[in-house]
Amino acid sequence: MSEYDPIARLYDPWSASVVEDVSFYVEEALASGGPVVELGVGTGRIAIPTAAAGVAVIGVDSSQGMLEVCAEQARAAGVAGLLDLRLGDLRHPPVDEQVPLVTCPFRAYLHLASDAERLVALAAARSLLRPGGRLIFDVFMPSREDIEETHGRWIEREPGIDERADWDTEAQTLTLSVRGAAGESTMQLSWLEPARWHALLVEAGFEVAACYGWFDRRPYRGGEDSVWIAHVRK
Ligand SMILES: C[S@@+](CC[C@H](N)C(=O)[O-])C[C@H]1O[C@@H](n2cnc3c(N)ncnc32)[C@H](O)[C@@H]1O
Repeated sequence: MSEYDPIARLYDPWSASVVEDVSFYVEEALASGGPVVELGVGTGRIAIPTAAAGVAVIGVDSSQGMLEVCAEQARAAGVAGLLDLRLGDLRHPPVDEQVPLVTCPFRAYLHLASDAERLVALAAARSLLRPGGRLIFDVFMPSREDIEETHGRWIEREPGIDERADWDTEAQTLTLSVRGAAGESTMQLSWLEPARWHALLVEAGFEVAACYGWFDRRPYRGGEDSVWIAHVRK
């Protein structure tokens, strides 16, 4: 059972305000020519617009509930034929195909709890890439202000949906709780400094082509979010 199963029907209303990354990932999918493997595909927030743009997506997720919602929404959007949804772990994705683009949007790599897990996941992504292919993902690292403002408080994130962040700055973990009429859950996320992500990518055999500070491709200059484009080192 995934911690996302109880909130599969809450996830889209909870993340309703997160829209800034969609066109970025769709553009990258179009540029790659597809198919795209999306690790942690969730309810298809990115995968469905990607398929609607004509690019086939293999979506991997460890939550059966999230995949069910994704499948329903893909059918409703008329793109089910371009979405191949697979239940599985992003550290060992059930994918034999080689693709030009692997993505892991909206911080799904923060579900990895140790460098060992991160290296396994990055190596798995690397093994799916065709020569010249790219891995694109985004992660975050909280600012001190963010931690001070939110720590240990239930905050209404969307109407009727409350979120609580319990930060452990020493362990660099966030215990994130969410509750609403459609479900509730608590999950743990782990963050790293961007320099650590860079080092892990290199250790996993990637070369970093770009590290942006936002989805408009501005260079990373020390904010909370970082967006990575990496290709397999020759
Ligand atoms: C923040 S959501 C992102 C969903 C989607 N990519 C989006 O942009 O809305 C993270 C997703 O990663 C999935 N996930 C977390 N750990 C995973 C793992 N080890 N293997 C596969 N999926 C995982 C969760 O089930 C969830 O659907």
